[in-house]
Amino acid sequence: MSTKIKVKLGRVQETLLLPLVSRAKETEYKNPLLNDTKAVGLFKQIDVDKKKLLRNITEIGVHGLCYRAYKMDEAIRTFLQKHPNGKILDIGAGLDTTYYRCDNGKALWYDLDLPDSIALRTQLLPPPNKRVTYIAKSMLDYTWIDDIGDISNGLFITIPGVLPYFKEEDVRVFLSTIAPRLKGAEIMFDVISQFGKFFVDMRIKAAGMKEAHLEWGILDAKTVTDWSKHIELVRTIKFFEAMPKSNQRLSTKVAMQFNRIFDMTQLFHLRFV
Ligand SMILES: C[S@@+](CC[C@H](N)C(=O)[O-])C[C@H]1O[C@@H](n2cnc3c(N)ncnc32)[C@H](O)[C@@H]1O
Repeated sequence: MSTKIKVKLGRVQETLLLPLVSRAKETEYKNPLLNDTKAVGLFKQIDVDKKKLLRNITEIGVHGLCYRAYKMDEAIRTFLQKHPNGKILDIGAGLDTTYYRCDNGKALWYDLDLPDSIALRTQLLPPPNKRVTYIAKSMLDYTWIDDIGDISNGLFITIPGVLPYFKEEDVRVFLSTIAPRLKGAEIMFDVISQFGKFFVDMRIKAAGMKEAHLEWGILDAKTVTDWSKHIELVRTIKFFEAMPKSNQRLSTKVAMQFNRIFDMTQLFHLRFV
């Protein structure tokens, strides 16, 4: 039997386990939103308290994290149809497996995360070819913009499950700093309302990540577009909108409806101009 890989990460970095376990679990559902066999393999390989993680992850939690990936995959595929030789940057990549679901054989992929997360990623999921580059830096170390280089063939940035952990002022400075330097790029990230923070924080704590706090709560994308003349709204997507039919429990269906009514979680799709 192969040796399991120990996971030693900081308190925010270890939250990367939640989307990973969700994608693995979703893949086992009937009619899954994502068929992520890579995530299933990775989850088997890591040495963590799986029982505890699985016990505390709910069906709505699994669907929420996978809906985010599903909509981002859709947007990346659309982008790649227009920009087949473009670049995709995943900020706070963790053990994200988007490349394996969406690669077109031509695009250049960049996965950026803190050094300990990238070390784990490199160990478990080494770059599969020269078109995939890992960047071990904080997103607040803006030298990553030079690492990405020329973006004349298009750049699509995803930031799944990262910005809600930052204070609003940090997010404002981050987006207003990168926007004028990456004109033409599209960016997509998930946001949570102040109300939604309460529920999601509870789930993160229940999964044993007691020190990872959600900070940024937001409802209206105008707050973000008002931060800089270089940020333009493409669209917002409410979580679970146009969700493909599957066999959820009644409690999950009710929770999804509740989430939609109160705009608890959304995706913001923006363009830098
Ligand atoms: C909830 S996980 C999301 C992982 C991945 N995006 C996914 O959906 O599977 C949050 C990620 O943000 C990363 N992160 C936290 N602070 C960061 C920073 N300052 N710069 C880059 N990544 C950061 C963590 O290391 C972790 O991988």
